[in-house]
Amino acid sequence: MDLVIRNANLPDGRQKIDIAIVAGRIAAVGPCLPVQGQAEIDAGGNLVSPPFVDAHFHMDATLSYGLPRVNQSGTLLEGIALWGELKPTLTQDAIIERALQYCDWAVARGLLAIRSHVDICDDRLLATEALLQVKQQVAPYLDLQLVAFPQDGLLRSASAFTNLKRAIAMGVDVVGGIPHFERTMADGAESVRLLCEYAAEQGLRVDMHCDESDDPLSRHIETLAYHSHRLGMQGRVTGSHLTSMHSMDNYYVSKLMPLMREAGVAAIANPLINITLQGRHDTYPKRRGMTRVPELMAAGIDVAFGQDCAMDPWYSLGSGDMLEVAHMGLHVAQMTGQEAMQACFKAVTETPARILGLDGYGLEVGCHADLVLLDAADPVEAIRLRAARLKVIRRGTVISESPAAQARLSVAGRPEAVDFRLARGR
Ligand code: FE2
Repeated sequence: MDLVIRNANLPDGRQKIDIAIVAGRIAAVGPCLPVQGQAEIDAGGNLVSPPFVDAHFHMDATLSYGLPRVNQSGTLLEGIALWGELKPTLTQDAIIERALQYCDWAVARGLLAIRSHVDICDDRLLATEALLQVKQQVAPYLDLQLVAFPQDGLLRSASAFTNLKRAIAMGVDVVGGIPHFERTMADGAESVRLLCEYAAEQGLRVDMHCDESDDPLSRHIETLAYHSHRLGMQGRVTGSHLTSMHSMDNYYVSKLMPLMREAGVAAIANPLINITLQGRHDTYPKRRGMTRVPELMAAGIDVAFGQDCAMDPWYSLGSGDMLEVAHMGLHVAQMTGQEAMQACFKAVTETPARILGLDGYGLEVGCHADLVLLDAADPVEAIRLRAARLKVIRRGTVISESPAAQARLSVAGRPEAVDFRLARGR
């Protein structure tokens, strides 16, 4: 064996498990494996998980916070306007440099797969070229999947559809959209039809920004489910954000969710962004704006949590930490039951892996040996502590290490300083 990890807790609750790795893949998983590794890691009863996966990000904008100015209102629309001001000044080198820096942050956080939208409404396709280069460069350590995203509207921006097709021809993986930003509801529906038909024809996945508003009457997710079903695209279509579902009539939602299930449409909520951008026109009470995560999950629909933004025109915070994302999602959705908290961990690991269609993801024999050793005993403790990623392993090789969270206390009444593991429950 190239590497054996001993005494690990797994996300499904199994304890004292060994994981043997050969040639970058998992060769055996079980208690007390009778094998020797050329290298061995003692997990010490800590959690070993497949890596974090971010199903929704904007890598072309990341780490551009403050360029050319700060979003004063903090709203989605000022963010879009600000991005429009920034776009003409972007250079390929700057996009690449910022994206690579973010990928380093991601790796250190055990985030080894990202689906990033890339704005294709710039006729030069500068960001597309840049992120395709980044995708190739990071491939040994991070899976980057790109979505052709018509930020200014497929129909509202004259060259968007042509550019989107150019981007796909250049190697972008997924078809994006933004129906709620088109001029009318009818144009939004038409954009969904055009994009789904194009994706079906090309055999591609679809991931649209869909109903990212507080409008209870926004209906683009219904249209997306309709075309996904009509075109036989089950399992390959995703609605991102879906914040209008928060405000929709309950009776209507009771019809909508089974339609989404039937159409095999997945959902991605972006808790950090949804909780800060939605409900901005409300006085009090203010709507939370995040889509109906536990209800969608209960209806049998795949729901993932995405980071969406990190230090860009829309969000001045964020650090590539999917445990922070899960932590916020758990709170906003009030998912504090034991099973619900486990589901929040899955929403940043196995569910987005399924949505992205990642090959060889997981802890089964034969899967890629991509693993994260966390400074936590189980998924709930990992979320609670936003636990340190002690080791991040890619294809059987340790590619990042972080120290455990420890503190030394020197307090009155104690003769000596005390070292202790920060807030560990055992
Ligand atoms: Fe987004």
